Amino acid sequence: MLEVKNVSYFYKSQKDKLVLDQISYQFEKGKMYAILGTSGSGKTTLLSLLAGLDVPVKGEINVSGENISSKGLSYHRKNNISLVFQNYNLIDYLTPVENVMLGGKADAEILLTHMGIDSATRKRNVMKLSGGQQQRVAIARALASKAPILLADEPTGNLDEATAKDIISIFKDLAHEQGKCVIVVTHSKELAEEADDILFLKDGKI
Ligand SMILES: Nc1ncnc2c1ncn2[C@@H]1O[C@H](COP(=O)(O)OP(=O)(O)O)[C@@H](O)[C@H]1O
Ligand SMILES: [Mg+2]
Repeated sequence: MLEVKNVSYFYKSQKDKLVLDQISYQFEKGKMYAILGTSGSGKTTLLSLLAGLDVPVKGEINVSGENISSKGLSYHRKNNISLVFQNYNLIDYLTPVENVMLGGKADAEILLTHMGIDSATRKRNVMKLSGGQQQRVAIARALASKAPILLADEPTGNLDEATAKDIISIFKDLAHEQGKCVIVVTHSKELAEEADDILFLKDGKI
């Protein structure tokens, strides 16, 4: 359902460094994918192209056979994608509940409770929460979305082992029971082992 076709990418400030070099891959619905690779191998870059936050220098990203640029990248971001960023990207002047409601109309309170954010914490400014708590809020926001594709950039990086396990099983259910396409960048071996497919990024290639 999500296709990467001959995609190449470099950053404009570093034109001689090809971050992605003619990558092609087909991501299917109902599966969880783990993307591994050393730091700087282009994992975040690939996710941001899949998310429609940036465009490939060459090649195309297609959803159900249609280039994501054709209906517009904002259409793609709004309707196809839910995203857990590496740096959470929470809105700093909103509470956790308000942040989760931005993800979709689902019950923010229930999702946050499920993610272990208690009622007092839910009402605080998100910037006053710990890194792990912010990560839980970011995941809850992604879970509120009805989008068919979930992209997560090192989502368990700031979480204790038990919570990380929880997140992995939630993500797996989203793929296997709700039929979503779940793509997770990770350093965690445990998470990667739970995935249906593991991709390695190295020297711009998958
Ligand atoms: N905004 C940017 N401008 C220039 N180079 C960048 C930028 N972001 C990342 N890079 C470079 O692109 C390469 C891939 O980065 P990234 O996708 O963040 O890797 P990863 O997520 O695997 O650690 C690295 O060499 C990094 O230094
Ligand atoms: Mg990264």
